[in-house]
Amino acid sequence: MEKSTWVQSYLKLTVILSINAIILHPVAGVCTTHLYIMKRLILILLAATTLAACQPASNEFAALRNELTDLKTKQAALEKTQYIPHLGWAMVQVQIYHAKLYFAGAAKNWELASYYIHELEEALEDVQKLHLEHEGIKIAELIKAMALPQVENVENAVEQKDTVAFSAAFEKLTTSCNQCHQAAGKSIIHIKVPQGAGLPNQDFTLQP
Ligand code: HEC
Repeated sequence: MEKSTWVQSYLKLTVILSINAIILHPVAGVCTTHLYIMKRLILILLAATTLAACQPASNEFAALRNELTDLKTKQAALEKTQYIPHLGWAMVQVQIYHAKLYFAGAAKNWELASYYIHELEEALEDVQKLHLEHEGIKIAELIKAMALPQVENVENAVEQKDTVAFSAAFEKLTTSCNQCHQAAGKSIIHIKVPQGAGLPNQDFTLQP
């Protein structure tokens, strides 16, 4: 119990005792005086019990307050060290794995394609975790509903080492990227199936 609360209780107690005294004193015979003392004793006992009951609660309150201060300090320290990439930057990572997955699949390097499927999945899951919402758009839900099922389709094609199925599934995945960009009011960002030889500094063909 807080200090102010038990001060309030004490004041209430004093008021009750005073009223008792005013009512009982003018007619104070032996019997009423005895009654008055009894009542006073009961009230004092009650007050003592209440205060005793408040003691552990007050300790608990202090412990909770200390814990809260401790947590606030830790959180402030974490916020200083933790870097959370904003959505645009997290999407660049998604874009890179989208491209690398394609080049690996196009080179029929299924092991590498399988590696990039997992990287793409992880990149999308990171976006889900870090950006539940962005500008009022439910990003995590859209990724789950639109992109992840298409990633799974590509994964099946990679597991079956099926080039035709891979191309079809990759096209659908790319469409899902753009569908979400449209849903999020970002149709200005238009993703396409990569063209050309890949990245200049990485060989996507199967290594001997
Ligand atoms: C939640 C639905 C959603 C899905 C699914 C999605 N994106 Fe995005 N993407 C966004 C939003 C929203 C932005 C704009 C972020 C901003 O405002 O900073 C964006 C931005 C981007 C950007 C722009 C980043 C830059 O700085 O150039 C690229 C590239 C991108 N996404 C690629 C992809 C690719 C590739 C896929 C599919 C594998 C994909 N996105 C799937 C919502 C999505």
